[in-house]
Amino acid sequence: MKVDVVLGLQWGDEGKGKIVDVLAKNYPVVARFQGGPNAGHSLLFDDKKFVLHTIPSGVFRKNAVNIIGNGVVIDPIIFREECLEIEKTGVPVRERIAISKKAHLILPTHRIIDAASEASKGASKIGSTLKGIGPTYMDKTGRNGLRVGDILAENFLERFHNLKSKHITFLKQFDFEYNAEEKETEWLSAIEFLKGFNLVDGEYFINHQLDDNKRVLAEGAQGSMLDVDFGSYPFVTSSTTICAGACTGLGIAPSRIGTVSGIFKAYCTRVGSGPFPTELNDNVGEELRKLGFEFGATTGRPRRTGWLDLVALKYAVMINGVEQLIMMKADVLDTFDTIKVAVAYKMNGVETHQIPFDTFATVEPVYKEFKGWKRDLTKITTESDLPFEFMTYVRFIEKEVGVPINIISLGPDREQTIMRTV
Ligand code: GDP
Ligand code: IMO
Ligand code: MG
Repeated sequence: MKVDVVLGLQWGDEGKGKIVDVLAKNYPVVARFQGGPNAGHSLLFDDKKFVLHTIPSGVFRKNAVNIIGNGVVIDPIIFREECLEIEKTGVPVRERIAISKKAHLILPTHRIIDAASEASKGASKIGSTLKGIGPTYMDKTGRNGLRVGDILAENFLERFHNLKSKHITFLKQFDFEYNAEEKETEWLSAIEFLKGFNLVDGEYFINHQLDDNKRVLAEGAQGSMLDVDFGSYPFVTSSTTICAGACTGLGIAPSRIGTVSGIFKAYCTRVGSGPFPTELNDNVGEELRKLGFEFGATTGRPRRTGWLDLVALKYAVMINGVEQLIMMKADVLDTFDTIKVAVAYKMNGVETHQIPFDTFATVEPVYKEFKGWKRDLTKITTESDLPFEFMTYVRFIEKEVGVPINIISLGPDREQTIMRTV
């Protein structure tokens, strides 16, 4: 069996949580392979809403094992809060989760470094979620990090204090007030909580599942345009958010990757700093934010909004080898008279279809306009009932990008999902 991958093609918040929850009923194994509590994946079913940060979105499906892979970074405090919240609903979280011993731990001082570093950048800050993601991945690649498996070692406490001391030395360069001990007791008790979980050699675990003919669904976090290599550097996250990250973040060979599905919104959003060529700083942008309820699921920050950007979408499809598209939130456009889509950029008056290397380059989108469908799509359950103008929009995207849109989501609920046979 292979690992099917579902990932975001824009700047995150495409609706990955909803779709993974929908698809998970057909997968005995769901896996997160990168990122950490910077993610906020929303799920809605039976009138209940959940936001998951570290836990894979298959957790509400019976019989699905949810693996937190080695590529993920875990804050034990946030993880415990998440587990207890879900447990309240009667879901046996502990039975449904396995954690790779190679996943790295976010320490309280990682979060302090994140905050100090952002504060020192002033206007050029990344707009980090302040969850300690960057500093934790820095320690991972810098070979200083603490991993989940380390919590079982006798000298864990000593190693924790050693790393904390390194962080305190590092923090001397910043003019930043902090209390390194404030969260320590809570963090150490959350580490004890973590010990109650199935801590596994994730790479063996997942490969054995595949050998046993079990289908695995890998759930991306963030989006391709936030990838540390291919996103708008330095306004990116610190992990590999693209498909290749599923291999390194789970311990599977590239030949074991199955279908790659890319999720995108029918428009665009971005939270945090960095380029956003189709951004709308006007009433239309405000309308998108209001109708789409575009506020961060992790930080509550208002998301920046804009039209769909096909230059960026095609780029993400290329980098990931996307074979199926999943379109989200078209219902947010229901009341619009006109819908625009960027088909190219103009740079210094010259048209281009490429993302420029220079993150700070000014690009002007070249738009194609579509007539709005002006109908409520949220109750439509079959493809044949979808309005002509909407299908014109869908077909145009498919033709431009060269990949079929197999799933159309028209509302946040599990049920508001149309599976197409294209
Ligand atoms: P993720 O990080 O990719 O999982 O996405 P988020 O959960 O951060 O943001 C997506 C938001 O859109 C959530 O509030 C979802 O409940 C909501 N949502 C998902 N799909 C749809 C849809 O098709 N239509 C509408 N209106 N909302 C949706
Ligand atoms: P999900 O999985 C949207 C953004 C932050 C910031 C940049 C770096 O819900 O789609 P970080 O905390 O990772 O160092 O922040 O990345 N960012 C996200 N934006 N959705 C996310 O996750 C994000 N995770 C990080 O806003 O611009
Ligand atoms: Mg999100």
